[in-house]
Amino acid sequence: MGQDAKNIKVIKPFNAVIFGGDGDLAIRKIYPALFHRFVDKQLNVDFHIYAVTRSDRKHATFYEDLRRFILESTDYELAEGIIDVFFGKMQLITIPTHAIDDYRELKEELNKTPNYQTIYYLSTPSSAFGEISDALKKCGLINAKSKVVLEKPLGNSLASSKEIHSKLSNSFSENQIYRIDHYLGKETVQNLMVLRFANHLFENAWSSEHIESVQITVAESLGVEKRGDYYDQSGALLDMVQNHLLQLLCLIAMEPPARLEADFVRNEKLKVLNSVRLFDEISVLKDTVKGQYTRGTVNGSQLNSYLEDIEKYESTTETFVAIKADIDNWRWKDTPFYLRTGKRMTKRYSEIVINFKSVKHNVFPSQGTIPGNKLIMRLQPEERIELVQMTKLPGPGGYRYKPISLKLDYMDSFHERFPDAYERLIVDVLRGDQTLFMRQDELEAAWIWIESIVNGWNKVKMKNVLYEAGTWGPGDSVMKEGQTWSMSMKNEDTGI
Ligand code: BG6
Repeated sequence: MGQDAKNIKVIKPFNAVIFGGDGDLAIRKIYPALFHRFVDKQLNVDFHIYAVTRSDRKHATFYEDLRRFILESTDYELAEGIIDVFFGKMQLITIPTHAIDDYRELKEELNKTPNYQTIYYLSTPSSAFGEISDALKKCGLINAKSKVVLEKPLGNSLASSKEIHSKLSNSFSENQIYRIDHYLGKETVQNLMVLRFANHLFENAWSSEHIESVQITVAESLGVEKRGDYYDQSGALLDMVQNHLLQLLCLIAMEPPARLEADFVRNEKLKVLNSVRLFDEISVLKDTVKGQYTRGTVNGSQLNSYLEDIEKYESTTETFVAIKADIDNWRWKDTPFYLRTGKRMTKRYSEIVINFKSVKHNVFPSQGTIPGNKLIMRLQPEERIELVQMTKLPGPGGYRYKPISLKLDYMDSFHERFPDAYERLIVDVLRGDQTLFMRQDELEAAWIWIESIVNGWNKVKMKNVLYEAGTWGPGDSVMKEGQTWSMSMKNEDTGI
């Protein structure tokens, strides 16, 4: 393991109580994240993990499933028996209802270590957040050292997110609440801050004076898998744009914070969210597209349509959305931010492209218009940064040039293991660092913008454009004339 010992900050002894403890997210992400940090000796303190389930879960199958996911997520050699040592720190606890009596076993356990910090991780539907936090409070299980981690979706509207917050705030104060967005734990996303704020070169050119447009694509090849019920209630706008894509937009658009501290960063993100222009029934028609996938083929295999996947005859839920967002502030006036995300697209592919303006005066007129530089931050499938710049083709015969990429491939440059986003974020919770977690006022500002789209769509009865599974979806119509989605993959495809 390559973690530099001096970078490992001390974490105090803790209890982690995971509600929804046998759910998919807990088994695939939360426990493996804690496991890898444990193996890396970052959790070099006493700790206990309580997996809270609603009904009796057979110990054997739980640990079997968990072992499988831990092994699947491990790309390095494990010491003999280390998984069992980790399992020795875990305990399954059944809490069938939120009656105080049902919390007795948990209370007894936590009371054994009264000085430990306790992390309550609510990996349950948000409708249960209020009852859980009330019960914890009534049992005397919340103190100044307690923290609560909330998984999305945090409601499905501004009103419901406020309601969740008002229930939670009876038991926890804002500095104890960690609203998790796993996109903020991705390396490239964090590198965005370093790239912007540790490089004079970029920060000086970071405005509409130099940037033509920004494009953010989060494309998934997967469909809705087994989450049809949840997904059909939310759709791509609430599932991906309300959180992940908006957070990316904030990190690109925000002003430099005075310090890299939670409230300094969150204040700057909030200013961006308050400046994104709201939609109405006219602008949704012009500047948004919603789509739904039909049957299609990927690599020769037939894929179902969305309706077949969710086993319904009809649904107006969008599995794709593209938006041209405008930010009404001094820095970004007239630089559109194009956002696009969808399920069942050609491949899993996410990137941020900063399209710089073309040079002011062309001294190579025989070559036609000179394309602007691009800064590409790729999040998936691999983490990479590229700077596309014009370069002269070697040889005599005048000046001919083409765009060439300067590439920084993380895998090649840093030969360390890449921790999963959850590993980083859970450690931040343990250390009490809220920088990468959304504050309630940010969340509300995000909802106000999202609701302007939903209301606009409802007013105009916006229809889904159908797109075949395995294609890039119908996003082009939100583009300004003369623009296209400039994906670096296209460069690879065309050999540019
Ligand atoms: C989740 C969404 O928040 O993010 C899923 O609910 C989506 O629908 C997932 O598949 C994408 O995450 P990643 O890290 O695989 O891009």
